[in-house]
Amino acid sequence: MPITFTVVGARDPRVEELLRATDHAASTTWTSDLNSLLQADAAQPDIILIDVRGQNRLPSTLALLKRKHPSINVILIASTIDGSLMLEAMRAGVNECVAEPLAQTDVSAAVNRLLGQRATAAAGAVFAFVGAKGGVGTTTMAVNVATSLANPPAGRTLLIDLHLAYGDAAVFLGAGARFSIVDAVENLHRFDGAFFNSLLARTASGVDLLASADRPSAKPVDPKRLASVVEFAATQYPYIVLDVPRSDTTVLDLLDQASTIVVVANQELATVTNAGSMSAALRSRYRKAKVMTVINRSDRRSEIGQHDIERAVGGAISFQVPSDYRRALHAIHKGRPLVLDNHNDLSASFKALAQELAGVKRERSVERPTGLMGRLSGRRS
Ligand SMILES: Nc1ncnc2c1ncn2[C@@H]1O[C@H](COP(=O)(O)OP(=O)(O)OP(=O)(O)O)[C@@H](O)[C@H]1O
Ligand SMILES: [Mg+2]
Repeated sequence: MPITFTVVGARDPRVEELLRATDHAASTTWTSDLNSLLQADAAQPDIILIDVRGQNRLPSTLALLKRKHPSINVILIASTIDGSLMLEAMRAGVNECVAEPLAQTDVSAAVNRLLGQRATAAAGAVFAFVGAKGGVGTTTMAVNVATSLANPPAGRTLLIDLHLAYGDAAVFLGAGARFSIVDAVENLHRFDGAFFNSLLARTASGVDLLASADRPSAKPVDPKRLASVVEFAATQYPYIVLDVPRSDTTVLDLLDQASTIVVVANQELATVTNAGSMSAALRSRYRKAKVMTVINRSDRRSEIGQHDIERAVGGAISFQVPSDYRRALHAIHKGRPLVLDNHNDLSASFKALAQELAGVKRERSVERPTGLMGRLSGRRS
């Protein structure tokens, strides 16, 4: 995705040229007034450049903007960098300064430093699960993979239910959640580790949960803010699992943070067709290697076989999860992810998928599935 710059100040072709020549695909917009970014529904760029050449005074609203969007990156463009302006800039939360004569190396270095810091800060691995169709088992898979990751040999795991309302993850985890993803989005400006923690539910399975709301949000939610929540979460947890709503295509555009996007499908024609177009769209939007397709409720006798699905999605199916409706349903009714129980093929399959995603070694105690299920649930070599 191109980096988005907003320049506050008069349009200067030289600045435009400097931004275009940074190491990143960039799109630049201009505004004469910082106030436009303070509106509740204003989309926030990756980097704001404030051009104060000729006035050498900061806009008074900058500190307020930084309070509302603490993770926003600000570069100051000044005629000269004098001590008092620097001090004022530091206090207002400016991250970088460049001064005249404007040099490409200075601008590129400032942009690289900011983007580099963002990448290091977000160290956790993010696994996004999205269904090719409703009801294919996306939440079942997200919850079980998250539970598997939360237990050794992986580590602390946060499941984020990105359905703004009526998501199912809390029910599957038997969790009562006081706060939701909507509370997170509405309070981004208050984010620090302690505040973020207070929004989460601890679940008996070991997974922490940022739940969906139990009623629709009164106000429209800026999807970019959902991405900021995920970005912040990744600074707090080594593993994040996302239950992604498939009906909200804007959310599918916000998966830059994801290490892997798992498209969940089954062997029904409509699902396979959707999986094909969804995988193609995701692969062209993100790195190809980042998108994988997994078959849930795999049925060896289905008229649609593995090769048909691989042809439709344009890539290998690396995991097939067996079907066990009774067990899957029982786990939901108990609010206890089935992966917590050993000695069944479904559990072994979810564990194997989690370990594959996290790149951690298979536990010795995990049963290797045998026979037909062994072929269905393991990764194909
Ligand atoms: N591997 C499986 N074998 C048998 N049944 C399964 C399996 N995985 C999920 N199910 C069942 O399928 C149903 C739908 O599962 P789930 O709610 O996870 O799907 P979903 O794709 O998240 O649905 P939605 O689109 O409503 O969010 C549930 O009853 C669940 O128990
Ligand atoms: Mg679901």
